[in-house]
Amino acid sequence: MSIQQYTLSDFKKLKKAGEITAKTLDFLEDKIKPGITTDYIDKITTKFLHTHNATSAPLFYKGFPKSICTSVNHVVCHGIPSEKILNDGDIVNIDITSYVDGFHGDASRMYSVGTPSVKANKLIEVTRESLAKAIKILKPGIALGDIGHEIQSFVEKEGFSVVKDFCGHGIGRLFHEEPSILHYGKKDQGIKIKEGMVFTIEPMINAGKFETKVLNDGWTAVTKDKSLSAQFEHTVGITSNGCEIFTLSNKYDTNLH
Ligand code: MF3
Ligand code: CO
Ligand code: CO
Repeated sequence: MSIQQYTLSDFKKLKKAGEITAKTLDFLEDKIKPGITTDYIDKITTKFLHTHNATSAPLFYKGFPKSICTSVNHVVCHGIPSEKILNDGDIVNIDITSYVDGFHGDASRMYSVGTPSVKANKLIEVTRESLAKAIKILKPGIALGDIGHEIQSFVEKEGFSVVKDFCGHGIGRLFHEEPSILHYGKKDQGIKIKEGMVFTIEPMINAGKFETKVLNDGWTAVTKDKSLSAQFEHTVGITSNGCEIFTLSNKYDTNLH
């Protein structure tokens, strides 16, 4: 399969899916507290999606057992919701992909459990800002490498590292399409982006070294050095002069308006 270029009517449906994903992430904002389990988050999220006539794309995707990914502290991505209890000071990424009317909306953000450390807060802010910076340069004609360069140069200047083992992806009718969106790279490298392309940007940033490993469950990716990791994700569509952020939250994404 080659890289899809979606039409204006596809963009409307992508916006609908993206909006539901953003609403779901907003719904969770005041629910993440010390003492709850990640399974509880999975449960209330699944219910919320169904109430909004959406289903969850991750459920049973390549055998993934739950509706969402919950990645706590040194978990980089693909954490499986479980009986694990969240404690004061934890940081957790919640990654939601809704499927609505034939299209996907994929986004994630970080949630603080109680009061995380100063270092954890800085990691979260730098990761969030790296995604915002990448989104702001999007328009037809830039190279995929420009996206990676924007993220990597900022993150490394702040003293953190960019995960290389996982990347963003084309998305639309399928959950994961071409191309891969690397969060590191060099200016002008790779293919040029075109109007109608739809993809995610989802930088995973580590407080320590960039290396990761996958646990025996076949999913949970963690930092090799056990350092904290943060991630933010949006689904975007390239327009004639910039991009539309399908998963934008008017409440939360005040840095992207
Ligand atoms: N939502 C994740 C992404 O950003 C993918 C999760 S796949 C799963 O691409 F199977 F782990 F759910
Ligand atoms: Co994604
Ligand atoms: Co995702």
